[in-house]
Amino acid sequence: MDVHESVLELVGGTPLVRLRTPGGEESAALYAKLEYLSAGGSVKDRIGLHMIEQAEREGLLRPGGTVVEATSGNTGAGLAMVAAVKGYRAVLVVPDKTSAEKIATLRGFGAEVVVRRSGLPAEDPDNVFNTAARIAAERPGSWLAGQYDNPANPAAHYATTGPEIWRQTDGRVTHLVACVGTDGTISGTGRYLKEVSGGAVRVTGADPAASVYSGGDGRPYFVEATGHVRHPETVEDLWPSSYQRDVVDELIPVADREALLAVRRLAREQGLMVGGSAGLAVAAAQRVAAGLGPESLVVVILPDSGRQYLSKYFNDAWLLRLGFLDGEEGTARVGDAVAPAVRAEPLPYVNRLSTAAQALAVLRALRERGLPALAPAGPCPVGPDRAPTVPELAGSLRLDALAAALEDGSLKPDDPVRDHLAAPLPHFGVGEEVRAVLAELEERGEELAVAVRDGHAVGLVDRSALRALL
Ligand SMILES: Cc1ncc(COP(=O)(O)O)c(C=O)c1O
Repeated sequence: MDVHESVLELVGGTPLVRLRTPGGEESAALYAKLEYLSAGGSVKDRIGLHMIEQAEREGLLRPGGTVVEATSGNTGAGLAMVAAVKGYRAVLVVPDKTSAEKIATLRGFGAEVVVRRSGLPAEDPDNVFNTAARIAAERPGSWLAGQYDNPANPAAHYATTGPEIWRQTDGRVTHLVACVGTDGTISGTGRYLKEVSGGAVRVTGADPAASVYSGGDGRPYFVEATGHVRHPETVEDLWPSSYQRDVVDELIPVADREALLAVRRLAREQGLMVGGSAGLAVAAAQRVAAGLGPESLVVVILPDSGRQYLSKYFNDAWLLRLGFLDGEEGTARVGDAVAPAVRAEPLPYVNRLSTAAQALAVLRALRERGLPALAPAGPCPVGPDRAPTVPELAGSLRLDALAAALEDGSLKPDDPVRDHLAAPLPHFGVGEEVRAVLAELEERGEELAVAVRDGHAVGLVDRSALRALL
C-alpha cells in the first residue's frame, strides 16, 4: 500500500516547479519550491513539527500540555495541526492585521485564538509577544514555542528543506532566494546548502523595502508575515536570535507594489496561487536570475498559498483602497484631486507624542493655507521625507477640539496630544473613482479624507476638491 500513517508524514517534501522568467532560456533557470503543498499549507509546518518534537524530547512539553505561541498565522497553523494530531491544546496570539482566513484556519484546527492589537511598541505589555509569554507563564503545563529564538526553527530547515532542494536539483542549485521573517527558513536552508556545496551556493534574502533587515526604517508595510517592522516608540529592537548574518550574502528590498503585483501575475500567468511573501520572493529571484547565465540554477521558496489572502491581495477593492491599483483610465480619480502643490509639501500630520503647542502650530498653519484645520495623527515621526502609511493613520486631531481642551485646562501646552485624538480620517486610494468616493464621504458625514498611493498617505482631499472634478 502507498499510504501514510498520519498527516505528520506529509509535512514538507514539497515539489520544485520551473517558473517562466523574462530572460527565458538565456538566463538562469528559476525553480519555485511550493511550500503551500505541505500538509498544513505552509513552510511553517516544518518548524511546527520540529519545535514540538524537540520540546517533547527535552521534557518541556508533556502529555495533556498546551502549546503557546505569538504568530501571524502560519506557524500557528503548523503548531495547531501537530498539536491536534498529538493531543495537545494550542493557544495562539495573533495581531489584528492577520487575515480573517488565517484566523479561521487556526480555529478550524481547534486552537484558541487570542487577537491583540498590531502596531504596538516592543515594550507594550499588550503586544502579541508579551501576551503569549504571559499566557505561557500563567497556564500550568504550557510551553512557549518562541519561534524567533528557538534553535529548532532553523534546525527544521537544515534537516529538511535544504536536503530536499539539494536532492531535487541533483546538486545543481547555485542560488537560493527566500524571505526573512524569523529567519529560520533562510538560515537553516542556506546553511545546509552552503555546507553541502562547499560554500558555492549564494543566498539572497527577499525583504519588504520598509523592513529594517534590508535597511528600511521599519514603518508598516502590506506584505504579511515577513521582514521586520520597528514601531517608532520601540526602545530596544530585538532581532531573532536565529538570525545568521553569515548565511545571507545579500538582501534585496522589494516595494509592496512590486510584490503584490507579482502575486497576481503568478496566479494569472503561471497558475500559482501564492501569498504576498511568495510574490516578494519571486520579484527578488527574478532579479537574481536575470543577472545570471543558463549555467546557474536559482531556487526560490514560496512560503504559502494565496487562498489565505483572498480578501486582500486577490481583492481589487482592497488593493484599490490602498492605492496599489491605478483605477480606470478616463474617469475622475481621487489622485486627480491631490493638487501638485499639496503633493509637493509634506502631508500635515500630528505625531501622537507631539505637545499640544506643536500640534496647535500645525493645525493653525493648515487653516492659514485655507485647508480644513484637521490633521491625521498617530505614531509616525513627522518629517519631510516621512509620509505616514495607512496603519499610522491611527487617529485625527481638530483645531477646535484642541483649542477647547487647552482652554478648559484638560490639556496643557506641554502635554502630549496622545489622549485627545479623535477617530482616524477616512482614506481612499488614488485610483478610486471620485463619484463613488463622494457618495461614501457623504454617507459617512465626512468632509475630509486622506489620499493614499502604495499604502502611503500622499495628500488630503476635501469634498469640494472632489466635486470640482465632476
Ligand atoms: C507567509 C510567510 N512568508 C515568509 C515567512 C518568513 O519565514 P521565516 O520566519 O522562516 O523567516 C513566514 C513566516 O512566518 C510566513 O508565514
